[in-house]
Amino acid sequence: MIVIILSNLEIKNPSKESEKVKNLLYFLKKNKTLSKEEFLFVLDNITQEEFKLLRELAYSVREENFGNSVYMRALIEISNYCSQGCKYCGIRRNNKLVDRYRLDKDSILNCANEGYLLGYRTFVLQAGEDKYYNDELLCDIVSSIKKNHPDTAITLSIGERTKESYQKLFDAGANRYLLRHESASRRLYDYIHPDSSSYDNRIKSLYNLKDIGYQVGAGFMVGLPTQTNEDLVEDLLFLQKLKPEMCGIGPYLCHSETPLKGNVSGTLNQTLVMVALTRLILPNCLLPSTTALGTLSNTGREEALKAGANVVMPNLSPVEHRVKYEIYQHKICTGDEAAHCRNCIENRINFTGFVVDMGIGHHKNFGG
Ligand code: 5AD
Ligand code: FES
Repeated sequence: MIVIILSNLEIKNPSKESEKVKNLLYFLKKNKTLSKEEFLFVLDNITQEEFKLLRELAYSVREENFGNSVYMRALIEISNYCSQGCKYCGIRRNNKLVDRYRLDKDSILNCANEGYLLGYRTFVLQAGEDKYYNDELLCDIVSSIKKNHPDTAITLSIGERTKESYQKLFDAGANRYLLRHESASRRLYDYIHPDSSSYDNRIKSLYNLKDIGYQVGAGFMVGLPTQTNEDLVEDLLFLQKLKPEMCGIGPYLCHSETPLKGNVSGTLNQTLVMVALTRLILPNCLLPSTTALGTLSNTGREEALKAGANVVMPNLSPVEHRVKYEIYQHKICTGDEAAHCRNCIENRINFTGFVVDMGIGHHKNFGG
């Protein structure tokens, strides 16, 4: 576990470890890569002082590539049905307490229309793994949104599907796909998922998406039960290899109605370290400041923006369904109308010294 030792206020001679961590961070900023041993050294030895430097370096890389703008994406949670049994997730199939809902085509198109009027130019359609949305229905939804609003991007976040299915959805107009790898450590992945889940299929799906031509979003949780710094290093090495266009990093938040109940949640600082390191590895990556961070701490999303994140995803789902999409508990923004959320987040962004960018916000390699 990354333990950030709080520095005392005395001026002390820098330790050998501190000097080495700082040098590694400068090296990472310049070369965008470190070895397994070097990443591990950073995570094992980072103290408050180097954490400050890390955030400053990540902030400067973010500024060089995106100025002070923050991209806005409208999140529409289209269904909380899920056929999977991820042990951390509150909407897993076996949680009988969840009030299930799914949006039909018209409701989704209405959400998109509302979002378009509020200025959004990216719609993220997210759901549990819900077979109800077969290729035909989803392609129809995607192409209809594109027909109504040709100047928008569509991001899908609907789990593992076959390569053929990903291809059909891409051909129908989907531009981007979020599929967090959850953990690049096979041991940890297998620990937090049921036997029916396959680490290899998860990773393969990400490569399939890349192959097809999507802008691909990987991502992982920080502070998972039994997660070690070695596991987190695997996440960083995986990002170096896959080079995703987007990467969602959030704290694990313990949910009492899951098999992992009773565990400790991840922390703000642990998560910020991983966000900032990811910014140094992938300078052009679209990195969301996640709702999970905002749930963990009132200023979590603002802190993430200052540590290298450059995207926010305000919730546009119909308010009557919001609380039902409870992947973790006490989720923020569940009672707020889309327009309220839009203003609230803009105020927070401005207050932190950034400006909202309502543009389509493609990744640099895709014309952004
Ligand atoms: N805490 C934090 N993040 C979670 N996710 C799912 N359940 C939890 C939880 N309890 C994340 C997963 C998933 C994304 C949609 O939300 O990483 O991919
Ligand atoms: Fe939704 Fe603040 S961002 S209420």
